[in-house]
Amino acid sequence: MWLWLARSWLISGRAETKRLDRRRPVASNWMHCLAAHHLISASMVSLEELTNLQARAEADLLAAVTVGAVDVVSAAALGARSPIAEARRGLRDVDPEERRELGRAISEVADAIESAVRARRGVLVAEERTVHLATDRVDMTLPGRRPPRGAVHLVMQVWEEVVDIFTSIGYTVASGPEVETAYYNFDALNTPPTHPSRLESDTLYVEYGDHPEGVLLRTQTSPVQARWMEAHDPPVYIVSPGRVYRRDAVDATHTPVFHQMEGLAVDENITFADLKGTLSYFIEQFFGPGAVQRFLPNFFPFTEPSAEMHTSCHVCGGAGCRTCGATGWIELLGCGVVDPFVLETAGYDPSQVSGFAFGVGIDRLTMIRYDVPELRYFFDTDMRVLEQYQ
Ligand code: DAH
Repeated sequence: MWLWLARSWLISGRAETKRLDRRRPVASNWMHCLAAHHLISASMVSLEELTNLQARAEADLLAAVTVGAVDVVSAAALGARSPIAEARRGLRDVDPEERRELGRAISEVADAIESAVRARRGVLVAEERTVHLATDRVDMTLPGRRPPRGAVHLVMQVWEEVVDIFTSIGYTVASGPEVETAYYNFDALNTPPTHPSRLESDTLYVEYGDHPEGVLLRTQTSPVQARWMEAHDPPVYIVSPGRVYRRDAVDATHTPVFHQMEGLAVDENITFADLKGTLSYFIEQFFGPGAVQRFLPNFFPFTEPSAEMHTSCHVCGGAGCRTCGATGWIELLGCGVVDPFVLETAGYDPSQVSGFAFGVGIDRLTMIRYDVPELRYFFDTDMRVLEQYQ
């Protein structure tokens, strides 16, 4: 019976050894001890065998080069299925006189292995920490990584600045739709049906809703004038910045989308002099004191008289240079006294009130102020250009 048991332990011990070999080479040694020990416990563990266990454990600990390997040796040497544990369990079969001595011997070996485990573990933890500190060092002197920060686009900065100039003298900001009817974009602004700007070669039409006169992407911010006057009684002091669309091919000074700001003042006794005074004030605020203006006659359907306003070239101060095409002047905006037809169409009485209006290109103002040679720089997403103006 004992022989049979011992053989089966041995066999199962070997089988297990093979299986564990592949995964835990350190533990495998211990399976031999375990197998041997089953034989021992069947009789009794000898002091010599205990000494061997300790020697083997100490050798395995020395061979262990990671904390994990130490844990494996420790579990194999001292765990529930270790020879030491088995030997302890076997004590109950030992004569009481010998039990004490053998028990103490087992405890001494266990204590010795435990302190060897602790010592080896301590050494390896320290070593691993040293390696870790050396390889995983944080350089506190490195600059932090900044998340990329957004910034207001240069054209939008100018947009806000020109709006501020006008709101600070009492103007209200108005807005209107970018998809506009031909009525507000042209008819209400006294633009005859035959006007060339209405042609599909100039204006982008869209199919939208039931508007027989046509729906389009607004070509100017001027329709906001008509919409505002229809909805509000005079006096009117509004500016209306916004996006406008034209069927233009992209070149240095044209893009199919750009930005304008419309201005409209309607009150009693408004004259061309008020227009000149207001725009001169605006130019001085925007370009700084000393900027000279001139007004040249022009034609716009919605103003009479109409003018275009020029300012002295900010680059050469009027002497003539490349920026101003050697004229000393830069064309800035269109303006004029609101045509009585426009007032009437909006429901105002031209005998009671009069007004002036102007339309200025915001992109153009930006190009002039910052000496940007190409309009398309604003729309290309080249960060090297845009980052200069944060
Ligand atoms: N809407 C004109 C354009 O896009 C600019 C303009 C000129 C607006 C004269 C006005 C004005 O209000 O009175 O070219």
